[in-house]
Amino acid sequence: MEFRHKNIISIDDFTKEELIYVLKRAKRFEEGFNDGKYSDMLKGKVLSTVFFEPSTRTRLSFESAMKRLGGTVIGFANEKTSSAVKGETVHDTAKMLECYSDVIVVRHHIEGAARVMAEASQVPVINAGDGANQHPTQTCLDLYTILKSKGRLDNLRIGFLGDLKYGRTVHSLVHALTHFDSKMTFISPESLAMPDYMIDELKDANIDFEETEDLHSVCKKLDVLYVTRIQKERFVDSLDYEKVKGVYQLDKNIMEYVKPELKIMHPLPRVDEIHKELDDTDHAIYFEQARNGVFVRQALLSLVLNKEMEDDE
Ligand code: NCD
Repeated sequence: MEFRHKNIISIDDFTKEELIYVLKRAKRFEEGFNDGKYSDMLKGKVLSTVFFEPSTRTRLSFESAMKRLGGTVIGFANEKTSSAVKGETVHDTAKMLECYSDVIVVRHHIEGAARVMAEASQVPVINAGDGANQHPTQTCLDLYTILKSKGRLDNLRIGFLGDLKYGRTVHSLVHALTHFDSKMTFISPESLAMPDYMIDELKDANIDFEETEDLHSVCKKLDVLYVTRIQKERFVDSLDYEKVKGVYQLDKNIMEYVKPELKIMHPLPRVDEIHKELDDTDHAIYFEQARNGVFVRQALLSLVLNKEMEDDE
């Protein structure tokens, strides 16, 4: 398949066919994970990871993916050690990184920062989260995880719980799911409901969704529950955060009210939304979800760097 976009900035950059193709490729990386089959695939290639916001999973899984494909990684995990503190713009940072690397992964607190870098850069730019906007590579691993655990992306009811206003992983995943025939249930306090522009888009596209504040009233019908952290750092007024913090906390009691085959996901990090006692139940797939990030990012890096695989269609 011809991969149309060398940059990955928004989940809307992908067609449905491209999303499915990424998931298929990720599966092949997972299957070949231990046999070293792809260990030279990106030999000689350099990835820059530039993180202007904290990260554990996204940065390190990109790094792991690149190194497992034989590439190398440069970058910074803290903007305080970069020239951003001297006033350098992301445009100029991108002009530098294109000299030093073949692909750039960026996380920034400003919405649209990744797009600005992509416009400035001659090498591909991958958005690893821009403010409350988008986190497309997380979405690819979320879809991969749903597909792997449920065997399908259609005919599911997927619940989203927590901070639906500021949660960029939610925004990207909901967009992606509009390609599939699944229903969505949004569960949040009113002040953290899905943004109006997204609700309008869902209505325009005739997507079947519902909104509620009450998890118990809807949890029985869910096949997947995607839990999110309240995004404390995005609140303009800390008093507003105090009003909603800890609002949903799942523990083993929830098991009485849900389908036995319900899968609970979380992009992580968690704060207090999911009690540790759920970790060992069959419902919890959030650690496996994080692990899937490596295969999916191997797929994405190999695609933007135009590496073909032997049985590409
Ligand atoms: C998420 C993020 O950065 O948006 N984390 C991640 O990439 N796995 C979720 C979060 O920070 O709550």
